[in-house]
Amino acid sequence: MILAIESSCDETAVALIRRNGKKPELLTSLISSQIDIHREYGGVVPEVACRNHAQRIRPLVQQAVDDTGLALDDITAFAATRGPGLASSLLVGLAYAKGLAAAANKPFFGINHMEGHLLSPFLETGHIPPHLGLIVSGGHTLLIDVQAYGQYRLIGRTIDDAAGEAFDKVGRMLQLPYPGGPEIEKHARGGDPKAYAFPRAVLKDAPFNFSFSGLKTAVLYQLQKIDDPQAHLADICASFQAAVIDALVKKTIRAAKEYGHSLITLSGGVACNRTLQESLTTSAENAGIKVQLTPPALTTDNAGMIAFAALLAAENRTADDLNIGINPNLSLASQMKNP
Ligand code: KG4
Ligand code: ZN
Repeated sequence: MILAIESSCDETAVALIRRNGKKPELLTSLISSQIDIHREYGGVVPEVACRNHAQRIRPLVQQAVDDTGLALDDITAFAATRGPGLASSLLVGLAYAKGLAAAANKPFFGINHMEGHLLSPFLETGHIPPHLGLIVSGGHTLLIDVQAYGQYRLIGRTIDDAAGEAFDKVGRMLQLPYPGGPEIEKHARGGDPKAYAFPRAVLKDAPFNFSFSGLKTAVLYQLQKIDDPQAHLADICASFQAAVIDALVKKTIRAAKEYGHSLITLSGGVACNRTLQESLTTSAENAGIKVQLTPPALTTDNAGMIAFAALLAAENRTADDLNIGINPNLSLASQMKNP
């Protein structure tokens, strides 16, 4: 029975998981979101985020334990995200989980947030098959060749803005509330994705890397040319969204073919986007490749995915020393074996 805490950005989250026969059983996954607080500032304010984590973490852990009818004594290991993320936010969850582990004299596992996203599509089955993982979040855009649990090779990443970051920045340009991703998706529904020909970056030397900053600038220039951008909101959103999705889908399918994968996964906050899900699934089907999507509750930041990564860690490696610290820039490669 593992209790996991996620606090890398602006969601305080707690989950409880155990292995029930072959399959993982997620007993509870609670999220206390601060989005309404940060919306006022148009983005996440680290100082505000960590203060709120510190206030919310204790009652949320208590609620997770109470909801499942357990006592803290029933928990056999504790886990928390140790990076990547905002330093002050990470510290709250990590210190709290280490404190619980120290008090109960139980093992502790520090978890990589990106590994949480990467493995989240398999929480239901509990088994990690070989696949190509596309992670699209607010801070990262990663293409990862996965041979098995713990065997990851980074084959593509963004060289500037992450996909979610591009959605959020363009959302701000369009005066939409934070976070921009869901807002742009909503407005894009009534728009023409071909109304504006926004660029799709081609990176000759690194064909599986992504770049979204040129696209962001192209949207800005286009807005300066339009008299009343709000009147063209749907077309701008649809055309911008199509450019992001086009780049993500084309490179992912090409990478899957080159690395011989017949399974692609889609995870991270931007994986909520229905048009992205549909576009990736259709293109993959045409290429004879399957797509495993992430259940909606595990897509944006949550502790369920951290708990699942911790369950696999507990089954596959030794626990971490309680002196382990946070690492705001923790990369997948630094923590994991590359084949
Ligand atoms: O994984 P996540 O919750 O946090 C990070 O680890 O970064 O991802 C948050 C990101 C934000 O940039 C948000 O705008 C984006 O996911 N997002 C979306 C959608 N829902 C969330 N982007 C596009 N379409 C959506 N429906
Ligand atoms: Zn995330």
